[in-house]
Amino acid sequence: MTNKNINNQLVINSTWTENLARNQQPDGKALLAHLRSVHKNYAGFTEKCPSICRDKAGRNSYEWLAEIVPNTNGIRVLDLACGSGPLLKILCDRNKNFILKGVDMCPEELALAKARLPDGVVDLFELKAQNLTAVDDNSIDVVLCHWALTLMNPITPVLDEVNRVLSSGGRFAALVDGPMKAAPKYSDVHNLIYRFAQAKIPKYGEIDLGDPRIRSTDTSKNLLHEAFPDAKVNIETSVVSMEGPVTEVAETAAGFFYASFILPTEARRIMLSELSNLLAISKESRDLQRQGRFSIPINRLVVTK
Ligand SMILES: C[S@@+](CC[C@H](N)C(=O)[O-])C[C@H]1O[C@@H](n2cnc3c(N)ncnc32)[C@H](O)[C@@H]1O
Repeated sequence: MTNKNINNQLVINSTWTENLARNQQPDGKALLAHLRSVHKNYAGFTEKCPSICRDKAGRNSYEWLAEIVPNTNGIRVLDLACGSGPLLKILCDRNKNFILKGVDMCPEELALAKARLPDGVVDLFELKAQNLTAVDDNSIDVVLCHWALTLMNPITPVLDEVNRVLSSGGRFAALVDGPMKAAPKYSDVHNLIYRFAQAKIPKYGEIDLGDPRIRSTDTSKNLLHEAFPDAKVNIETSVVSMEGPVTEVAETAAGFFYASFILPTEARRIMLSELSNLLAISKESRDLQRQGRFSIPINRLVVTK
């Protein structure tokens, strides 16, 4: 259920958005179908923003998450919801002797991952994170999950599956949104984009993608302690940023928010113009000359079994 707008972009409508419009809580099936629709039509979109945004040490969030994997030959790593495969590519390039698996529910994303990775080096599976049938018990040393845990509902079966496949002493590390106040202007950017989404669907945000508990540091810590009762849980916060011509920065920043995919053409145009004004860091009058900066707060959740 999508309509093309005049920029040849697809405005995503789904059972999930229809449920919200009717003040109904969508179920897990509607959530999966909505995410499928976004990722089918915009496969590869996720990595655009986080690949460019860097922390003070010059690392993007994929590189920061990948640091959890020790450089040991034969280490078995699973990238949960690997999308188009940027994290697997980093690991592949680092050590040819890692044993790598990736799973994702979206075949269009997996096709991009397959195309960028050397033949036969990574096992890719089309699976839901709630049911990792192709992955044996205790068969993985490190499970990584980059910016996808926040989309999953129900979340408990996902954490149970991670626990099942992880070997004893193994690690689970997930990169998720950090506290909004940690990055300058981030809550303003979020509120601006959500204001436009709410003009179309008032409940957008009050009901959001995924399980809300994974979106805050305290509640995600509790959730991880429940799912991994004897494990050590550590949460670190950081900030990654990008700079460039403000119109490009605004376009990239907006593309990072699922909420922007439901906006009709005209609303999207006005939203981007307001976003450019918000993100501008120089005072030239013409957008083409102005520079902009966008910063994202991130949390790295690390569970050691
Ligand atoms: C925001 S993208 C992140 C992709 C990749 N990890 C990255 O950061 O570039 C979210 C990915 O999660 C996948 N996904 C969402 N829910 C899922 C689920 N329950 N099971 C498997 N994959 C899921 C989507 O298909 C999508 O590829």
